[in-house]
Amino acid sequence: MRRPMIAGNWKMYKDVNEAAALVADLKRVVFDIDNVDIVVIPPFTDLSDVGEMLIESNIALGAQNCFWEREGAFTGEISAKMLKSVRCVYVTIGHSERRKYFGETDETVNRRIKAVLDNGLVPIVCVGETLEERENARTIEVVRTQVSGALKGLSEEYIEPMVIAYEPVWAIGTGRTATPGQAQEVHAMIRGLLKEMYSSSLSEGKRILYGGSVKPENIEDLMKEEDIDGGLIGGASLKADSFAALAQTTSDVYS
Ligand code: PGA
Repeated sequence: MRRPMIAGNWKMYKDVNEAAALVADLKRVVFDIDNVDIVVIPPFTDLSDVGEMLIESNIALGAQNCFWEREGAFTGEISAKMLKSVRCVYVTIGHSERRKYFGETDETVNRRIKAVLDNGLVPIVCVGETLEERENARTIEVVRTQVSGALKGLSEEYIEPMVIAYEPVWAIGTGRTATPGQAQEVHAMIRGLLKEMYSSSLSEGKRILYGGSVKPENIEDLMKEEDIDGGLIGGASLKADSFAALAQTTSDVYS
């Protein structure tokens, strides 16, 4: 069985003080969950402090993005090596907000994935269709293109640690979640594509998270779907109680 993951993407919320308060609360409420990988993904400015607070806890640290070069004259950018030095383990790559507002493409996603893996970190690669694409029955085609573009030229052994997150753009921050059936259909398609591109053992072992308005009220039915292996959570990760409820429900479904 694949080990589930609940990852909280804080986006551009929480300054250092707010981050410290949230992490202190979180540590108290999730310390006894041992069958779920719990991850927090704060803004860059919080990473160093949060990383220290998470030492010897059951919560891992992730970053929201990174540049593909190791170092150099790239004003405003942060490298995977720098993220590793503040105890990051995961990095989300290709979130739809990066694609929409900051020009991220499948090609730049591919370059960033390489930088993350080369530094021994784990990419959480985000894919998902827009509302217009779904309404035009292009979901499968769009997500297939994103996954194959992201993984272009990368070998099976190399991408072994990678996590994928399916996040329909129309469900992110809208309160409108995909039905478990809609999500499962795309997750199964992604798993099938991984089998085509690599092997059944790679595809069977690969964790595929769902993201988009996941809340304590709707997570149970999503986690019961065969090909959904956890959640990438935005809004509901900003409060300790709701994030803990998401991790606890996932833990119960997998017990
Ligand atoms: P949401 O965000 O849970 O607020 O919809 C999910 C995400 O963007 O990762």
